[in-house]
This record gives sequence, C-alpha cells and structure tokens, in this order.
Amino acid sequence: MTLVLGIESSCDETAVALVTADRRVLAERIASQEAEHRPFGGVVPELAARAHAERIAPMVEAVLAETGLSLNDVDAIAATAGPGLVGGVMVGLVTGKALAFAAGKPLWGINHLEGHALSPRLVDPDLAFPYLLLLVSGGHCQLIAVEGVGRYRRLATTIDDAAGEAFDKVAKMLGLGFPGGPAVENAAQHGDPKAVPLPRPLVGSGEPHFSFAGLKTAVLRAVQSGLHGPADIAASFQAAVTDCLADRTRLAIRAMPEATALVVAGGVAANGAVRAALKQVASAHALPFLAPPLRLCTDNAAMIAWAAQERIAAGLSPEPDPQARPRWPLDPAAEAVRGAGVKA
Ligand code: KG4
Ligand code: ZN
Repeated sequence: MTLVLGIESSCDETAVALVTADRRVLAERIASQEAEHRPFGGVVPELAARAHAERIAPMVEAVLAETGLSLNDVDAIAATAGPGLVGGVMVGLVTGKALAFAAGKPLWGINHLEGHALSPRLVDPDLAFPYLLLLVSGGHCQLIAVEGVGRYRRLATTIDDAAGEAFDKVAKMLGLGFPGGPAVENAAQHGDPKAVPLPRPLVGSGEPHFSFAGLKTAVLRAVQSGLHGPADIAASFQAAVTDCLADRTRLAIRAMPEATALVVAGGVAANGAVRAALKQVASAHALPFLAPPLRLCTDNAAMIAWAAQERIAAGLSPEPDPQARPRWPLDPAAEAVRGAGVKA
C-alpha cells in the first residue's frame, strides 16, 4: 500500500499528513498561525515563513511517532511547491527535499491548487472526472473543469479580489477581526440580508468571471454612512457574495454539460450560506453537490499527499528538483483576465 507524507506551508497553515493510496489519513497535524498574524490584521509573509520553519520538523516527527512508522515506511514525500508566499513554500519544499534525500525516496512538488482540486476524491471514491470545481479561498476564486489528474481547464477567475479576501476586508471595515470569513458569517446570523442594498458585480453577465472590488467599495460606503449596524451590513454582504458565486457557477455549469458533479473547495466553502446556495444551483441542474469536510476545505497537508497519490496512480513521474513558485496557474493555457488578477 503506497504511503505518502504530505507537507503544506504556502500560506498561514503549517501542515503535515500521512495518507495511503486507499484514502486513509493515518495521521495529520495542522498548526494555524492566526495568533501570530492577528495583531496585523492579515498574513505577514516574514512571520509566516519563520513560524513554518519553527514548527515543521517537530510536526513531521509527531505524525511518524503517532503511527509508529519511520521515513523508511514512506514511499514518497509530497510538498507544496506553489503558488503561495514564497518564503513559506520554500520552508516546506526544502524540508521535503531534505527528508526525501535522507530516506532515498522520491519528492513530489505539488501545486497547492491541484491539492484543493483533487481533495474531494480523497473522501469520495465515486467522484468521477470530469467535474466542475468552484475553488473559493483567500487567494483564489476560480471555476475549474477538472478533467483528470493534471488536466485542468479554467472556466472563470476573479478580475480583482478573491471572495475570501473580500470577506477578510469587510471584516476589517466592520472591526470584526482576523480571519474575517468566520467573523462575518457569525455577525451575519444576527442581521437582515436585505437591509443594505449592495451591488452584485457581473451577475447576469455573459462574461464568466468574478469581481468583488465594487461590492467591497459599496460596503465601505455603507459603513461610512452610519445608517446600518454591522450585523445588517455583514448579512447583506454575505448575501451579495453568495449571489455572485451562485450566478457565476450557473453559467459555468451551462458551459460544461459533461460535468458529473459540482464540487466546492477552499476556505470560503466553510460558509453555510454559500454552501446552501451552491447546493441549490447543483440540484436545479440535476447535478450531485459535493463539499469536502471543513478540515479538507481549508489548507491542509492531506490534500497535498493525496494529489501525489493520484499522480502515482496515474503513472506520472515527479518533476526532478522542483523549485518554489509564487505563481503557478493550474491551467497554463488560461488567458490573463482584465484587472489586477489573482494574488498567488
Ligand atoms: O483555503 P484557505 O484556508 O486559505 C487560502 O486562502 O488558501 O481560505 C482562507 C479564506 C480566508 O479568506 C477566510 O476568511 C475564508 O477562507 N473563510 C471564510 C469562512 N471561513 C474561512 N469565508 C466565509 N465564511 C467562512 N465561514
Ligand atoms: Zn488554499
């Protein structure tokens, strides 16, 4: 049974996991850096890299100790090679290289987005290609046709902010703290989603992409007007984002009639309102809807180990000596979109 040790360090989660080819996560550690970054209201790259460097080796030891296994029992090491904050990516990748060299095992440099894209198959053996993936996180907002291992077609991306980024910025405007997504969702529970009229950028448009900058500015104006309380603003904002995600997903489903399922991944997939709306969109198109468990939606190492397992099972070979890549699109053929583009 092939066993892969996965390492993730591309943003503010340090994570290590041991995953088998038959979808068992034997052991897993995830250390969040929320406490380090909270005083700054966002992720500080230098602090992140240092925190990864301090934590990663003991976490590798911990997952091995918990399972009673040694590096000799592992068949391959998989580390995120990008996209992400390059200092953090380097910490994980260099650790992976050192372990692979010491144990004489192959090293897979994994695209973090591929980890998210394939993660639903770790929990659902019946999920068949091709499926439509909505990847919504702090750095990404994309609709991707997942056609096979290593075969991804980007159908839509954001022309300005990612959805999670918008949640984080709105949380900051409302003084709700960091990370913003869960804080906005909590505040929204006590608010009226119809209280504040907010725009739904690109909704109804034939252009497939996302845009959240105009919505964010409208929220800022609502905050400054002093006419609305934070709960109503949070609820109205969440409803607007949800409408945008649902509408753009509808358009993508129409562009991909061969899809076997609608799958959502990334941190924003933790949001209850977003999940409910997407479930409805899927069922209106008679598509199964899949949302991996929350621990697999946000950044983790099991999805990195699993992506390597998928590549091994597909008969692919690891790229020799992978380098850290701050930018690494899943679909190299996708054209740049207007606007600032997606952050790594
Ligand atoms: O996938 P992830 O853990 O990290 C990357 O960005 O790669 O996603 C984190 C993002 C943050 O922007 C966070 O605010 C957002 O996901 N998020 C949420 C919720 N939980 C996390 N957004 C809305 N509602 C939530 N419950
Ligand atoms: Zn991520």
